[in-house]
Order: sequence, then structure tokens, then C-alpha cells
Amino acid sequence: MAQPSITIRTPDDWHLHLRDGDMLKSVLPETSRHFARAIIMPNLVPPVVTKSDAEQYRDRILAVRPEGSDFKPLMTLYLTEGTDPDDLEDAYKSGVVTAAKLYPAGATTNSENGVRNFENIMPVLERMADIGMMMCVHGEVTDADIDIFDREKVFIDRVLDPLRTKLPELKVTMEHITTSDAVDYVASSKGPLAASITTHHLMINRNAILAGGIRPHYYCLPVAKRETHRLALRKAATSNDERYFLGTDSAPHLDENKIDPCGCAGIFTATNTMACLAQVFDDEGALDRLEAFACLNGPKHYGLAVNEGSMTLVKQDTPVEFPDVIKTGEGEVTVFDPMTPIYWDVKA
Ligand code: DOR
Ligand code: ZN
Repeated sequence: MAQPSITIRTPDDWHLHLRDGDMLKSVLPETSRHFARAIIMPNLVPPVVTKSDAEQYRDRILAVRPEGSDFKPLMTLYLTEGTDPDDLEDAYKSGVVTAAKLYPAGATTNSENGVRNFENIMPVLERMADIGMMMCVHGEVTDADIDIFDREKVFIDRVLDPLRTKLPELKVTMEHITTSDAVDYVASSKGPLAASITTHHLMINRNAILAGGIRPHYYCLPVAKRETHRLALRKAATSNDERYFLGTDSAPHLDENKIDPCGCAGIFTATNTMACLAQVFDDEGALDRLEAFACLNGPKHYGLAVNEGSMTLVKQDTPVEFPDVIKTGEGEVTVFDPMTPIYWDVKA
């Protein structure tokens, strides 16, 4: 009997960290092998804040694309309290960037230059609303007195909802949502709002990080929450609701920086993310909805055409093996271990 298989359009990744230099060169093929496009995160050191920064970073990515690849990086600007609305508009209208990223200062890796006082970026956000430019948002407050597991919900209540009330026409992507609160917010909201979900948040809960030993490779931000939240995310992702789509947040860090008394946040999933995702959708009896989540809903939210190419995934009789690490010029990066057998593999 033929192996079960599924053919979908070529997917896109609506949230990806590629870094720069040797790391960029080593991790880019892991994404360009499977994805036609990706929204590229701007949290370099120093960050990508101007049109010129974005153009130069785009060119460095294009310069190291594997031979024959026509992978398209969709660039973003990193919003700061000093962002010039005219430069941002020029970057967007000239097609150099697709969106701008809002990091609350201190929320995550390389976010020190992010926003401390949201009032200070209102002129920029008003301009974005005027020109129809997407705001991608890392939705966590950073207040020391807010428990890390509550930071997404508190951000929605205290920052995002008031902001959207003031500026209802602003297009928003809630990135890498991790809670049922975020799902409820998306479900109940009107207007141009959608959410990306990572593969790993569909597969692990916080026990992966903390139960039976501390496992730094499962630490990311927003941190994985309890099981009820994971189940809400799986339900949302497999619901066929066009407001949810894939953003892997694949975020490479050298192992030496992960396995450290103060290790970095980030999970590197680019290598096996589509195989893992097919397993999730198969387990949920929702393989027929994988294409909507990974290939159709994202372009619709961003107002872009869907990809013409296709990807075939085939179910194997025995679990598929993935590399444990990717070697880079700077050291090794551990590949996400989904902690469960994956029977699906990308074939073409
Ligand atoms: O886990 C994360 N890693 N979350 C982020 O928001 C940033 C990312 C990174 O850049 O490593
Ligand atoms: Zn990220």
C-alpha cells in the first residue's frame, strides 16, 4: 500500500531569526530548503532600524542563498522610540520592508533598544495605520512584578487592547502566541488582527523545560505555558480559522550560549518544523487543514499572493531521524527535539 502523503503549496514562515555572518550562512539553507518566503526578524546587534539597514541586511541574506534558491526574505524594521516615520514609510512604499516589529524593551533577546513608553511611538504607529503597514508585535510586558507566565495576558489587557482601541485600523500580527488568553483575544476581536503560532508551542508545554531536570533547549520567549494553553493553540491552529498561521520563531543560538547559567531564549526548529507540523496536524485528524495554516492564511493576512510551488510530505513506517545539531562557523546549534516520534518527512 502506498504511504500516506499530502501535497500542499510551498509554505512560508511568518517569523524567523536568521542572524548574520557565519550563523546566517549556516542556518539559511535549513529554511530555504522548505520555505519560499519568511518574515525576517530585525533583532540583530545593532538592530535593523532604518531602510538602509534593512536593504543592507536583505542583501547579505541574498548573497548567501544556496545555489538555485529563490527564497525571498521579507524584511522588517525594528521599532524604537527614535524611529523616523518618513524613513519607515519610504522603506515600506519602496518595497524594502514588509512590516515593522514592536519589541517591548527587555522582553527578549536583543530587545534593549525596543520601546519603553508606547506613547512615544504613537506617531509612527499612526503613520503605519495610514499607509496600511503591518505591526508585528512581541506581546509580553516586561515589568519585574509580573510573573513571566502571565506576561502575555497582561500585555493584551494593558497594552495591546488599549492601543487597538486608539488605532483600530492598524494591522497587527500577534506573534508566537502561547496562551488561551491570546486565542480568546483573537477570536473575539474585530479588525485587522491575526496571530502566528510556532511549531514548538504546539508540541511542548512548560514541563519540557522544567520537569525531571532543566532543559535549556526548550527555553524560549514567550516561554511555553501549561498544557491547557498548548491544547488551545492546537485547536486554534487546526481550526481552519484564517486568523492563525505559522511563524516558526526558529531562533538559533550556539549551544554554549544555551547551556549556561543564564542561557539565551530561542529554539531552533527550521530543520524539522514542517515534518513536526505535519505530525501535529495528523495527530489532530486535521491534515486537510495544514495547507491553510502553513501556506494560505499568512499571505492573506499580509496581502500577498500564495506561492505557486508545492511541497509533498510522506508518512513513513518508522520514525524519521533528524540531525541533532547544525554546525556553523561559530559552533553547534542544537535542532529542536520534539520529544515524540515524527513519522512525516518532506519529500519534494
Ligand atoms: O525565544 C526567543 N528567541 N524569543 C524571541 O522573542 C527572540 C528570539 C531570539 O532572537 O533568539
Ligand atoms: Zn522571534
